[in-house]
Amino acid sequence: MQIESEQKCATAIIGIASGKGGVGKTTVAVNLALKLAAQGQRVALLDADLGLANSQILLGVNAPFNVGHVFEGTRAIEDVIVKGPYDLLLIPGASGNEALANITSIQAQSLVDQVLESFGDLDILLIDSAAGLSSSNMSFLDACHLRLIVMQDEPASIADAYGLIKLESRKERMDSLYLVPNRVDNQGAGQLLFEKMNKVCMQFLEQPINYLGSVLQDELLAKVTRRRETLVEHHPNTPASKNFDNLGNALLEVVGQMDASDQAPKVS
Ligand SMILES: Nc1ncnc2c1ncn2[C@@H]1O[C@H](COP(=O)(O)OP(=O)(O)OP(=O)(O)O)[C@@H](O)[C@H]1O
Ligand SMILES: [Mg+2]
Repeated sequence: MQIESEQKCATAIIGIASGKGGVGKTTVAVNLALKLAAQGQRVALLDADLGLANSQILLGVNAPFNVGHVFEGTRAIEDVIVKGPYDLLLIPGASGNEALANITSIQAQSLVDQVLESFGDLDILLIDSAAGLSSSNMSFLDACHLRLIVMQDEPASIADAYGLIKLESRKERMDSLYLVPNRVDNQGAGQLLFEKMNKVCMQFLEQPINYLGSVLQDELLAKVTRRRETLVEHHPNTPASKNFDNLGNALLEVVGQMDASDQAPKVS
């Protein structure tokens, strides 16, 4: 049992959320997971979108079973998990399974525990969440050490990202939130968007938010999915692919600073 808990502590659990839908959570989750796996990290991606899961489509893998079967108790994690490129492990989401829309924190934590128990040597577990601020989504975020908030430079995305940040601030975990502006024209524009959000957080929540890095608008992202390719494998030198390299490196740096005893990020 001792070994099991030590193994658990070694895995950094990172949630990817947004508030508003369609802003790029799955795109960021899949590409970040691939970049980290390509660097030799042992990575699993849990698709916690229990309504419209599509990580498997972006990864180009076939998944006969999914997380819904685990919740139903008809399959074990080992049966549903599929391997993607670079040995990335994917726990597929439960597309169209509305019964799973109201997962409690205990159920989300139990699923995460099952993944960690089945794959004790994971360096990183990424959790791609569904759109919105449902209790199910917040439950998955409860199980994470760090939370990446993907947003775009448009009013609804900014408002919903702030709504999510506000909920997280009530749980006193602003330190664990990292903003990822997506579909920006250049890194400067992403940085400005972050600064705008940070200013609002300082003014109304009296605490800063962290910045991880931005992802540029890149039409190739939609094209590679249609061709059943991935940016990381097939187009490693495009601007967005380089952005994911930088996000991966920045994330590894943050994870490296986490306190080994409880995996909480150190407050500097
Ligand atoms: N940086 C980008 N450049 C161009 N297109 C992008 C970029 N990021 C995401 N997209 C496109 O935006 C669409 C939505 O992306 P994605 O599915 O990743 O969003 P999501 O937040 O996961 O959505 P949902 O809330 O439905 O889960 C996709 O068609 C994707 O290809
Ligand atoms: Mg998604």
